[in-house]
Amino acid sequence: MLDGFFRPKSVAVIGASRKRNKVGHVILKNLLSSFKGKIFPINPNAKKILGKEVYPSVLAVKDKIDTAIIAVRAETSLKVVEECGKKGIKNLIIITSGFAEVGNYELRKKLLSLLKRYKLVCLGPNILGTLDTYSGFDCLFLPRRRMMRPRKGNISFITQSGAIGSAVLDLTASEGYGFAKFVSYGNALQVDESDLLEYFGRDENTKIICMYIEGVKSGKKFLKIGKKVAKRKPVIVMKGGLSKAGSKAILSHTGSLAGSSEIYSGVFKQAGMIQVFSLEEMFDVAKILDKCGPPAGDRVQVITNGGGHGILCVDAIIREGLKLAEPSEKTVRKLREIFPPNVIVSNPMDLLGDATDERYRLAINACLRDKGIDIILIVLLYQTPLLTERIVKILGEAREKPIVVVSTGGKLTEKIRKKLEEAGLPCYLFPSNAVRAIKHLVRYYKSV
Ligand code: COA
Repeated sequence: MLDGFFRPKSVAVIGASRKRNKVGHVILKNLLSSFKGKIFPINPNAKKILGKEVYPSVLAVKDKIDTAIIAVRAETSLKVVEECGKKGIKNLIIITSGFAEVGNYELRKKLLSLLKRYKLVCLGPNILGTLDTYSGFDCLFLPRRRMMRPRKGNISFITQSGAIGSAVLDLTASEGYGFAKFVSYGNALQVDESDLLEYFGRDENTKIICMYIEGVKSGKKFLKIGKKVAKRKPVIVMKGGLSKAGSKAILSHTGSLAGSSEIYSGVFKQAGMIQVFSLEEMFDVAKILDKCGPPAGDRVQVITNGGGHGILCVDAIIREGLKLAEPSEKTVRKLREIFPPNVIVSNPMDLLGDATDERYRLAINACLRDKGIDIILIVLLYQTPLLTERIVKILGEAREKPIVVVSTGGKLTEKIRKKLEEAGLPCYLFPSNAVRAIKHLVRYYKSV
């Protein structure tokens, strides 16, 4: 069980610095602002930090400590790990870098032998920390004024690279994505990507798992666990270092060994995971899986107020191997009766530049009733004069089929996009992103 890394009852911050911008200080500050358990700052050179009593070593703490976060330099790390072992602390989150990734295999070996001797479980070294929005445990060493924290939600993110993780978390949090857990696992000396995948697979708050990996420690273990987890919930995976040059860079980043890209793709496929090739694609897919239920099939109907966007949607639908829905005769007849004669009732259905919210409502309702349509792709271009924010309510009420929105534009578009997403609709800036996400939605539900 890896609960100690996400919801311990008590935690020590070893290397809790007095200096505001140092890693150990930021970790302590973040924990103090959201974690409800006991916190013990450790620093032999300080008496009080952020109003908390500081201990010279974990051995000076009388209470039981579940987890220690280690943020001292590599050369001091073995000493404090040994003290943790003596104190009986079971879980170590080792932030410190300077191990295998810089070729310091001797230090790695010594650390490993200490972990074995004291039966310690270690996450890291060379990591950013973990975050659990449900337990409030936030030991990321990034200040909140620099990196936004996400709201509670269904997505959990396992990332080998801390920087990728934090940059993406900051972006997606500001876009309104909801997360359950986040973990950066760096050199994976002990706890590896498969262990974390298994743990997130069983986590009831996690509905969708995103993974950024650079190397897999044991292919067999990964495939076995991956198969099990992917049956229960979607696992979206991206492998860094697919190119020869990229795989060389991996060795000095997290000390992992890269394998051939074909082997990785084969393993992901066999495990039933969703392989993506960019971070943008990863979170596009996470969003649609988070907000949409299963579609009945792969027939997509486009409704637009811009002819060009309609064409781009149709091209993308064909390119991604989806089908263009054919609205039934009844749908066509009914809409032709109520719409002005220049509205094109087909696929794409072009409601024209003077489309009103009401025109959209009528078109959407007809498509929801049409059994030949599985997914509705709606283009909303707010530069046109008659579209208003009332569209949010109209779309928010139409939940019987997956509805995906594309809106390209600036400030007003962004404002309404946020409201639509809060109402549960996945929104995308461009047709290609939306349709690629639809492809993954269809494929995922076809495979389970
Ligand atoms: N126990 C507890 N605290 C100790 C200690 C001990 N035995 N020995 C020293 N300390 C204190 C120091 O006095 C210092 O506190 P102070 O600033 O109040 O004096 C604090 O621990 C930090 O030690 P310091 O030597 O100043 O280290 P640092 O903050 O410069 O660097 C790391 C520590 C862990 C941040 C650094 O070694 C590191 O690994 N940085 C990279 C981290 C990284 O990128 N990880 C991967 C991200 S993806």
